[in-house]
Amino acid sequence: MIKQAIIPLAGLGTRLLPLTSVFPKELLPINGKPGLEYILDECIDAGIKEIIFIISNKKKLIKKYFYNDNFYKSILKSKKDKRIKKEYNKILSLKKKIKFVYQNKPLGTGDAVLKVKKLIKSSHFLMLFPDDLILKRNCSKDMITLHKKYNCSIMASIKVKKRDVSRWGIYSIKKKINKRNFIIKDVIEKPSFVNAPSTNAVIGRYILPKEIFTKLEKQNKGIGNEIHITDSIRKLINDNHKFIGHNFAGKYLDCGTMSGYIKSSLEISKL
Ligand code: G1P
Repeated sequence: MIKQAIIPLAGLGTRLLPLTSVFPKELLPINGKPGLEYILDECIDAGIKEIIFIISNKKKLIKKYFYNDNFYKSILKSKKDKRIKKEYNKILSLKKKIKFVYQNKPLGTGDAVLKVKKLIKSSHFLMLFPDDLILKRNCSKDMITLHKKYNCSIMASIKVKKRDVSRWGIYSIKKKINKRNFIIKDVIEKPSFVNAPSTNAVIGRYILPKEIFTKLEKQNKGIGNEIHITDSIRKLINDNHKFIGHNFAGKYLDCGTMSGYIKSSLEISKL
Protein backbone atom coordinates (compact mmCIF):
# COMPACT_ATOMS: atom_id res chain seq x y z
CA MET A 1 0.00 0.00 0.00
CA ILE A 2 1.27 3.48 -0.83
CA LYS A 3 0.81 5.68 2.23
CA GLN A 4 3.91 7.89 2.06
CA ALA A 5 4.64 10.76 -0.31
CA ILE A 6 7.75 12.88 -0.68
CA ILE A 7 7.95 16.42 -2.05
CA PRO A 8 11.33 17.93 -3.03
CA LEU A 9 11.20 21.59 -1.97
CA ALA A 10 14.83 22.61 -1.67
CA GLY A 11 15.16 24.01 -5.23
CA LEU A 12 16.21 27.66 -5.52
CA GLY A 13 13.40 28.64 -7.90
CA THR A 14 15.68 30.75 -10.07
CA ARG A 15 13.27 30.50 -13.03
CA LEU A 16 10.80 32.58 -11.00
CA LEU A 17 13.18 35.35 -9.91
CA PRO A 18 12.62 38.02 -8.59
CA LEU A 19 9.47 36.51 -6.97
CA THR A 20 11.62 33.85 -5.31
CA SER A 21 14.39 36.12 -4.13
CA VAL A 22 13.20 35.96 -0.50
CA PHE A 23 10.05 33.83 -0.79
CA PRO A 24 9.78 30.07 -1.51
CA LYS A 25 8.12 29.54 -4.90
CA GLU A 26 5.90 26.79 -3.47
CA LEU A 27 4.15 29.32 -1.20
CA LEU A 28 3.42 31.78 -4.01
CA PRO A 29 -0.35 32.12 -4.46
CA ILE A 30 -2.01 30.53 -7.44
CA ASN A 31 -5.56 31.81 -7.73
CA GLY A 32 -5.67 32.66 -4.03
CA LYS A 33 -4.01 29.53 -2.61
CA PRO A 34 -0.33 28.61 -2.16
CA GLY A 35 0.77 26.29 -4.97
CA LEU A 36 1.92 23.73 -2.42
CA GLU A 37 -1.61 23.33 -1.03
CA TYR A 38 -2.88 22.03 -4.38
CA ILE A 39 -0.22 19.32 -4.16
CA LEU A 40 -1.13 18.49 -0.55
CA ASP A 41 -4.85 18.33 -1.37
CA GLU A 42 -4.02 15.83 -4.11
CA CYS A 43 -1.99 13.70 -1.65
CA ILE A 44 -4.66 13.64 1.05
CA ASP A 45 -7.42 12.85 -1.43
CA ALA A 46 -5.26 9.98 -2.77
CA GLY A 47 -5.11 8.40 0.71
CA ILE A 48 -1.56 9.46 1.64
CA LYS A 49 -1.00 9.40 5.42
CA GLU A 50 2.51 10.82 5.70
CA ILE A 51 4.16 13.51 3.58
CA ILE A 52 7.90 14.13 3.74
CA PHE A 53 9.08 17.61 2.73
CA ILE A 54 12.68 17.91 1.58
CA ILE A 55 13.50 21.54 2.38
CA SER A 56 16.69 23.54 2.99
CA ASN A 57 17.77 26.16 5.52
CA LYS A 58 16.90 28.77 2.89
CA LYS A 59 13.34 27.45 2.63
CA LYS A 60 12.49 27.35 6.35
CA LEU A 61 9.48 29.60 5.71
CA ILE A 62 7.74 26.48 4.39
CA LYS A 63 8.04 24.86 7.81
CA LYS A 64 6.88 28.05 9.47
CA TYR A 65 3.76 28.11 7.28
CA PHE A 66 2.63 24.85 8.90
CA TYR A 67 3.92 25.64 12.41
CA ASN A 68 2.32 29.06 12.89
CA ASP A 69 -0.82 27.71 14.57
CA ASN A 70 -0.36 29.76 17.74
CA PHE A 71 -0.62 32.91 15.64
CA TYR A 72 -3.88 31.62 14.11
CA LYS A 73 -5.15 30.72 17.59
CA SER A 74 -4.53 34.26 18.90
CA ILE A 75 -6.31 35.81 15.90
CA LEU A 76 -9.26 33.46 16.28
CA LYS A 77 -9.68 34.42 19.94
CA SER A 78 -10.57 37.98 18.96
CA LYS A 79 -12.02 37.40 15.47
CA LYS A 80 -14.60 34.67 15.00
CA ASP A 81 -13.99 34.39 11.28
CA LYS A 82 -15.28 31.10 9.83
CA ARG A 83 -12.94 31.13 6.87
CA ILE A 84 -9.85 31.63 9.06
CA LYS A 85 -11.08 28.88 11.43
CA LYS A 86 -11.39 26.49 8.49
CA GLU A 87 -7.89 27.33 7.24
CA TYR A 88 -6.51 26.92 10.78
CA ASN A 89 -8.04 23.46 11.09
CA LYS A 90 -6.64 22.50 7.72
CA ILE A 91 -3.13 23.63 8.68
CA LEU A 92 -3.39 21.73 11.99
CA SER A 93 -4.41 18.52 10.31
CA LEU A 94 -1.69 18.84 7.62
CA LYS A 95 0.97 19.61 10.24
CA LYS A 96 0.36 16.21 11.86
CA LYS A 97 1.06 14.46 8.57
CA ILE A 98 4.21 16.35 7.51
CA LYS A 99 7.84 15.45 8.29
CA PHE A 100 10.85 17.53 7.29
CA VAL A 101 14.27 16.50 6.04
CA TYR A 102 17.00 18.83 4.78
CA GLN A 103 18.97 19.09 1.55
CA ASN A 104 21.22 22.09 2.05
CA LYS A 105 23.32 21.75 -1.09
CA PRO A 106 21.39 22.04 -4.36
CA LEU A 107 22.85 18.89 -5.93
CA GLY A 108 19.71 17.83 -7.82
CA THR A 109 16.52 15.80 -7.42
CA GLY A 110 18.38 12.51 -7.11
CA ASP A 111 20.33 13.81 -4.13
CA ALA A 112 17.08 15.18 -2.60
CA VAL A 113 15.36 11.79 -2.82
CA LEU A 114 18.31 10.08 -1.11
CA LYS A 115 17.65 12.23 1.98
CA VAL A 116 14.39 10.34 2.73
CA LYS A 117 15.96 6.87 2.55
CA LYS A 118 15.67 6.10 6.27
CA LEU A 119 12.03 7.25 6.50
CA ILE A 120 10.47 5.08 3.79
CA LYS A 121 8.57 2.14 5.28
CA SER A 122 6.97 0.27 2.36
CA SER A 123 8.24 -1.16 -0.92
CA HIS A 124 7.05 1.88 -2.94
CA PHE A 125 6.36 5.58 -2.32
CA LEU A 126 4.85 8.51 -4.17
CA MET A 127 6.85 11.57 -5.23
CA LEU A 128 5.28 14.85 -6.39
CA PHE A 129 7.04 17.86 -7.89
CA PRO A 130 5.38 21.05 -6.67
CA ASP A 131 5.97 22.88 -10.00
CA ASP A 132 3.65 20.47 -11.76
CA LEU A 133 0.00 21.05 -10.97
CA ILE A 134 -2.48 18.52 -12.29
CA LEU A 135 -6.11 19.53 -11.84
CA LYS A 136 -9.62 18.25 -12.46
CA ARG A 137 -8.58 14.64 -11.89
CA ASN A 138 -6.36 13.23 -9.15
CA CYS A 139 -3.30 11.90 -10.96
CA SER A 140 -1.73 10.44 -7.78
CA LYS A 141 -4.92 8.52 -7.01
CA ASP A 142 -5.04 7.06 -10.53
CA MET A 143 -1.37 6.09 -10.31
CA ILE A 144 -1.89 4.36 -6.95
CA THR A 145 -4.78 2.36 -8.46
CA LEU A 146 -2.52 1.43 -11.38
CA HIS A 147 0.24 0.42 -8.98
CA LYS A 148 -2.17 -1.89 -7.14
CA LYS A 149 -3.11 -3.55 -10.41
CA TYR A 150 0.36 -4.00 -11.93
CA ASN A 151 2.55 -3.89 -8.79
CA CYS A 152 5.22 -1.82 -10.51
CA SER A 153 6.75 1.66 -10.61
CA ILE A 154 5.05 4.49 -12.52
CA MET A 155 5.81 7.94 -13.98
CA ALA A 156 3.18 10.42 -15.11
CA SER A 157 3.58 11.72 -18.64
CA ILE A 158 2.33 13.87 -21.48
CA LYS A 159 3.17 14.20 -25.16
CA VAL A 160 5.21 17.36 -25.84
CA LYS A 161 6.32 19.15 -28.99
CA LYS A 162 9.57 17.81 -30.47
CA ARG A 163 11.17 21.26 -30.14
CA ASP A 164 10.55 21.17 -26.33
CA VAL A 165 12.10 17.77 -25.50
CA SER A 166 15.23 19.23 -23.89
CA ARG A 167 13.06 20.66 -21.03
CA TRP A 168 12.01 17.19 -19.80
CA GLY A 169 12.88 13.60 -18.99
CA ILE A 170 11.87 11.69 -22.15
CA TYR A 171 11.00 7.98 -22.32
CA SER A 172 10.65 5.44 -25.10
CA ILE A 173 7.96 2.74 -25.13
CA LYS A 174 8.53 -1.00 -25.00
CA LYS A 175 4.86 -2.02 -25.09
CA LYS A 176 1.45 -0.38 -25.08
CA ILE A 177 -0.83 -1.66 -22.29
CA ASN A 178 -3.84 0.49 -23.25
CA LYS A 179 -4.68 4.01 -24.43
CA ARG A 180 -3.09 5.73 -21.41
CA ASN A 181 -0.47 3.29 -20.11
CA PHE A 182 2.82 2.09 -21.56
CA ILE A 183 5.69 -0.11 -20.42
CA ILE A 184 8.83 2.00 -20.57
CA LYS A 185 11.89 0.83 -22.49
CA ASP A 186 14.29 3.64 -21.58
CA VAL A 187 14.34 7.19 -20.21
CA ILE A 188 16.77 10.09 -20.77
CA GLU A 189 17.05 13.33 -18.81
CA LYS A 190 16.64 16.43 -21.00
CA PRO A 191 17.88 14.98 -24.31
CA SER A 192 18.80 17.17 -27.24
CA PHE A 193 16.42 17.40 -30.20
CA VAL A 194 18.46 14.79 -32.11
CA ASN A 195 18.95 12.34 -29.23
CA ALA A 196 15.34 12.29 -28.00
CA PRO A 197 13.90 8.77 -28.42
CA SER A 198 10.31 10.10 -28.52
CA THR A 199 8.16 13.03 -27.38
CA ASN A 200 6.83 11.31 -24.22
CA ALA A 201 7.76 13.68 -21.38
CA VAL A 202 7.88 12.73 -17.71
CA ILE A 203 5.76 14.99 -15.48
CA GLY A 204 6.32 15.34 -11.73
CA ARG A 205 4.37 12.39 -10.31
CA TYR A 206 6.30 9.20 -9.63
CA ILE A 207 5.68 5.92 -7.83
CA LEU A 208 9.17 4.75 -6.98
CA PRO A 209 10.51 1.53 -5.47
CA LYS A 210 12.81 1.42 -2.45
CA GLU A 211 15.52 -0.03 -4.72
CA ILE A 212 15.99 3.48 -6.15
CA PHE A 213 18.12 4.35 -3.09
CA THR A 214 20.77 1.74 -3.96
CA LYS A 215 21.07 3.27 -7.43
CA LEU A 216 21.09 6.84 -6.09
CA GLU A 217 23.91 6.06 -3.69
CA LYS A 218 26.11 5.25 -6.68
CA GLN A 219 24.69 7.86 -9.05
CA ASN A 220 27.16 10.20 -10.78
CA LYS A 221 26.25 13.74 -11.73
CA GLY A 222 24.54 14.07 -15.10
CA ILE A 223 23.37 16.90 -17.33
CA GLY A 224 23.76 20.36 -15.75
CA ASN A 225 26.19 18.85 -13.21
CA GLU A 226 23.31 17.59 -11.01
CA ILE A 227 22.33 14.18 -9.65
CA HIS A 228 19.13 13.27 -11.50
CA ILE A 229 16.42 10.86 -10.38
CA THR A 230 15.91 10.03 -14.08
CA ASP A 231 19.44 8.59 -14.39
CA SER A 232 18.83 6.19 -11.48
CA ILE A 233 15.40 5.23 -12.84
CA ARG A 234 17.16 4.43 -16.12
CA LYS A 235 19.48 2.04 -14.28
CA LEU A 236 16.53 0.29 -12.61
CA ILE A 237 14.85 -0.14 -16.01
CA ASN A 238 18.10 -1.60 -17.39
CA ASP A 239 17.97 -4.13 -14.53
CA ASN A 240 14.50 -5.16 -15.81
CA HIS A 241 12.56 -3.22 -13.20
CA LYS A 242 9.08 -2.55 -14.61
CA PHE A 243 8.11 1.12 -15.06
CA ILE A 244 4.81 2.27 -16.54
CA GLY A 245 4.38 5.65 -18.25
CA HIS A 246 0.90 6.96 -17.41
CA ASN A 247 -0.60 9.62 -19.69
CA PHE A 248 -2.80 11.23 -17.07
CA ALA A 249 -6.31 12.53 -17.68
CA GLY A 250 -6.22 15.80 -15.68
CA LYS A 251 -5.29 19.30 -16.76
CA TYR A 252 -1.57 20.05 -16.56
CA LEU A 253 -0.17 23.42 -15.46
CA ASP A 254 3.59 24.01 -15.52
CA CYS A 255 4.11 26.52 -12.69
CA GLY A 256 7.90 26.32 -12.70
CA THR A 257 8.44 29.01 -15.32
CA MET A 258 7.37 32.65 -15.11
CA SER A 259 4.97 32.46 -18.07
CA GLY A 260 3.51 29.16 -16.79
CA TYR A 261 3.12 30.55 -13.28
CA ILE A 262 1.27 33.63 -14.54
CA LYS A 263 -0.99 31.55 -16.79
CA SER A 264 -1.83 29.03 -14.04
CA SER A 265 -3.94 31.44 -11.95
CA LEU A 266 -5.98 32.41 -15.01
CA GLU A 267 -6.45 28.78 -16.02
CA ILE A 268 -7.56 27.72 -12.54
CA SER A 269 -10.00 30.60 -12.25
CA LYS A 270 -11.69 29.32 -15.43
CA LEU A 271 -12.14 25.75 -14.10
C1 G1P B 1 12.39 17.47 -13.48
C2 G1P B 1 12.90 16.12 -13.98
C3 G1P B 1 12.46 15.87 -15.44
C4 G1P B 1 10.94 15.97 -15.51
C5 G1P B 1 10.45 17.31 -14.94
C6 G1P B 1 8.95 17.35 -14.82
O1 G1P B 1 13.00 18.51 -14.22
O2 G1P B 1 14.31 16.09 -13.89
O3 G1P B 1 12.86 14.59 -15.86
O4 G1P B 1 10.52 15.84 -16.86
O5 G1P B 1 10.98 17.55 -13.62
O6 G1P B 1 8.53 18.59 -14.36
P1 G1P B 1 13.03 20.04 -13.67
O7 G1P B 1 11.65 20.59 -13.85
O8 G1P B 1 13.44 19.95 -12.23
O9 G1P B 1 14.04 20.75 -14.53
